[in-house]
Amino acid sequence: MLSNLRRCGVKVPLTRTFATATSTQPRSPYYAPKKEGDISSAFASLSSSEPTSFPARFATLKSSLIRGHEAALRSSWSRLLTTLPSEINLITASGSSIIPTLEFSEIKNHSRLLPFSRCLHKRGVAVIRNVVSEHEALGWKEEIKEYIAQNPQTKGFPPDRPAVYELYWSPGQIKARAHPNVLETQRMLMGFWGKKDRDTLISTEIPVSYADRLRIRQPGDSAFALGPHVDGGSVERWEREGYGKGGVYDAVFKGRWEDFDPWEASCRLKVESDLYNGAGACSMFRMFQGWLSMSATGPGEGTLLVNPLFKLATVYYLLRPFFEPKNADREKNGYLDEGNWELAEEQSSVLQGATMGCTQELSDVLHPHLQLFKTMIHVPDVRPGDYVAWHCESIHAVDKMHAGKGDSSVMYIPACPLTEVNARYLVRQREAFTNGTPGPDFPGGKGECEHVGRMRKGDIEAAGGEDGLRAMGLGNWSSQLESEKKIVRVANSIVG
Ligand SMILES: [Fe+2]
Repeated sequence: MLSNLRRCGVKVPLTRTFATATSTQPRSPYYAPKKEGDISSAFASLSSSEPTSFPARFATLKSSLIRGHEAALRSSWSRLLTTLPSEINLITASGSSIIPTLEFSEIKNHSRLLPFSRCLHKRGVAVIRNVVSEHEALGWKEEIKEYIAQNPQTKGFPPDRPAVYELYWSPGQIKARAHPNVLETQRMLMGFWGKKDRDTLISTEIPVSYADRLRIRQPGDSAFALGPHVDGGSVERWEREGYGKGGVYDAVFKGRWEDFDPWEASCRLKVESDLYNGAGACSMFRMFQGWLSMSATGPGEGTLLVNPLFKLATVYYLLRPFFEPKNADREKNGYLDEGNWELAEEQSSVLQGATMGCTQELSDVLHPHLQLFKTMIHVPDVRPGDYVAWHCESIHAVDKMHAGKGDSSVMYIPACPLTEVNARYLVRQREAFTNGTPGPDFPGGKGECEHVGRMRKGDIEAAGGEDGLRAMGLGNWSSQLESEKKIVRVANSIVG
């Protein structure tokens, strides 16, 4: 394996050893290569990984997070449980219509943007229509299918009938990531984030590329059934060396969840969301995960579900581990009642749904008040060329069964701002691109290094010109904005 990796140009450290996803101690932030695998490696429920039995240090951590704030926490939990039912009723009644949509042609139309932005702010998810033409999006799909046909060694999940391919550098992906309209859409969406510290080194005006996978899911597939989950690590959200580095959730752990602002970017730049070298971690700062559709797909047809409770859901899964039911019989009336739940006298080490090195998963059993069975809402019908984006903290899932008649196909294209960390990732990703191996966050191996028809730098330039190249760290940025000049200077010195 190592010789294969080196043959593909991957720098494999020879002397250091690393903590792996099976370790129970956090690694020091260091860029260890990932094991070979597929998307199932990221999910305890899809892989053979048993949910973590948590080391005792998590009990100590949980106690220390809330020490001195117990009364405020009890009261905040009570406010949360009181707020959830009406929001759940609203979501259930609205269905997919609660998810805001906007035509790409209107992304600079302020009268349309205003109601859209209010909705996006509250729900954390949006659909942007016709970012590219149907013709172009369908053309990309055909090019990808041709690329797969030319390279039968292409891996995917499930292995025998892939729905998600281990492809990062196919023609469609390269062209879509560099497309001016895709970059413009990302710019618009990232503009919804703010920064409390004006000196924060970030530019939401400069989107950078994160090379993720693609999905071509055939009707009848039930293997690629991702349950409700949140990307960007799991236990790290509670760990001081994880999200704690930026104090992202301090207000929540102190009993002031109303003060938590999911759209505040300054605190996120310090976050370490991958302490266990996990396959499901994203080490770029990704403001939105997103995909560009390559098919006409409706609810139930192998598509995405999201949880529009958004901030309330985040607060709930963060606080859930601190509370326990007095009567744990789920079948009994009153199980969910506020009066049946109390702050644990002694904190256990359990973090419901978290698994070290894997994505945060959620379930009706572990997170009963979210009523996921009715609050996970399908995104509306999408057409080829539509872009769907959801906040990096949103709970999302994929249809358990693809009950449609045509393929359900997307390219995962998140929206990432220019930051120092992201520029450093771009350097490593750029090397992976040159070598044809998966990006640094993804399961390693040969990837596409021997694939016929793999895209090169000239293909990026042809698709997106200078902006397309810059998004991949293959050119230098500039900015007229005084507030962005420093990050541009820093990032340019990183990418060289
Ligand atoms: Fe995900």
